[in-house]
Amino acid sequence: MGQKTKMIVDKDFKLAKIDDRLYGSFIEHLGRAVYTGIYQPGHPSADEEGFRQDVIDLVKELNVPIIRYPGGNFVSNFFWEDSVGPKEQRKKRLDLAWRTMESNEVGLGEFANWCKKVNSEMMMAVNLGTRGTADALNLLEYCNLDTPTYYADLRRSHGVDKPYGIKTWCLGNEMDGPWQMGHKTATEYGHLAAETAKAMKTMDDSLEFVVCGSSNIEMPTFPQWEASTLEEAYEYVDYISLHQYYGNRKNDTADFFAKTQDLENFLHSVISTCDFVKAKKRSKKDICLSFDEWNVWYHTTDADNDEMTKKPWQTAPHLLEDIYNFEDAILNGLILITFLKHADRIKIACLAQLVNVIAPIMTETDGPAWRQTIFYPYLHASKYGRGVSLTPVISTSTHDTTQHSHVTDIESAAVYNEEKGEVTIFAVNRNTESDLVFEADIRGFEGYQVKEYIVMESDDMKLANSASSSPVVPKTRTDYTMENGVFEAVMKKCSWNVIVFSK
Ligand code: AHR
Repeated sequence: MGQKTKMIVDKDFKLAKIDDRLYGSFIEHLGRAVYTGIYQPGHPSADEEGFRQDVIDLVKELNVPIIRYPGGNFVSNFFWEDSVGPKEQRKKRLDLAWRTMESNEVGLGEFANWCKKVNSEMMMAVNLGTRGTADALNLLEYCNLDTPTYYADLRRSHGVDKPYGIKTWCLGNEMDGPWQMGHKTATEYGHLAAETAKAMKTMDDSLEFVVCGSSNIEMPTFPQWEASTLEEAYEYVDYISLHQYYGNRKNDTADFFAKTQDLENFLHSVISTCDFVKAKKRSKKDICLSFDEWNVWYHTTDADNDEMTKKPWQTAPHLLEDIYNFEDAILNGLILITFLKHADRIKIACLAQLVNVIAPIMTETDGPAWRQTIFYPYLHASKYGRGVSLTPVISTSTHDTTQHSHVTDIESAAVYNEEKGEVTIFAVNRNTESDLVFEADIRGFEGYQVKEYIVMESDDMKLANSASSSPVVPKTRTDYTMENGVFEAVMKKCSWNVIVFSK
């Protein structure tokens, strides 16, 4: 067994109030996310509007505060007007991002209704690829205005009297990516984003805007893209987006678990770039981060590329249906811990995505909805990770992997939920060879005892769930000690740990 990890958690060491939107997610019109995912009239669990109740129940279990919609790459050629009004008059369209057919049977209004059913807010993206400011304004008027004007009237004529009141808006998607319909240079995009936000704010000054950052840390234009875009748009926007997906293509689990070191670098670089532009502009405002696409994504990419090339223009094909295994869940736990450690700057994060497409929730078209392995760390973070992110003092041993050095053995974060009177420690032992003793001194929280110690442990990194069996589920442990405010347990190698304390 390696060296003991020691953590001291104190009430007074507060990093920041955690924005609930840290546990957001994302639904794109892609593959089976919408059709046969959230929506399937005729399915035994479908409600009167055709939404699957089994999926609604699982989304509610996750308690997702905000959902980004309708893309993703899809948004860059989305004509929102085709998705509203009487269903029988809606136009079918080609989706150029995923080379599929979009029936528009589910559109803006239906999605807004679904969001109400799952208690989520909508985070709406506008098309700044093949369209621009005027269309974004029309969409905003349709969604948020109560005026006796054309698009607000149009919404009312569709039976929706009360505006949707969407507060958070994404100014396009991954506009740095050459694959994006309407891809632009940073200066072109920054200017368009600034002008669009300015005009939209004139219509509704309660809005918040997310400007597109880089599509991932490997983009050749990163981080100059962020700097140039913010040079143009700084005063008009509130957040910059970050997207990052991880994979274990080389089947090197230890190195896969070290990838949150790269994530830390990504975060530091984006924050520094925002602050550089702030200094340059002598601005008083900070730009916060919207990490609005994150997950593991690699299991299906080759097959998906093949499918899109060879069989274009299908309706709701099986695309991006990654089946997640145990080690993917551990990586997602590590990512969530990293977000909590940066809760002072990350205000929105969206697990990409939510249903069927690189998702924690899967559906069988003729069967049930089920939970993937990655459902659980996200569930635990959403359930126990609300309140204030604390800054614990941690001493832990390190190891090296093939591509990373000085990788901490145990990664952890602590959250204080004053309202519920709970303190929660999230921890991953990412050492793939040794179980490790973990000690947490929470003496500042007088009289607190362990309420629950939840773990995900497995010797088989590739173990996965399916519609018919769920070998990867959390369990509770009781083999710990708690004396004089000091918790101690042996954390299994490659494990996700959630320790909930209450009085
Ligand atoms: O989430 C899948 C895709 O990944 C999104 O459409 C795009 O924004 C990103 O490249």
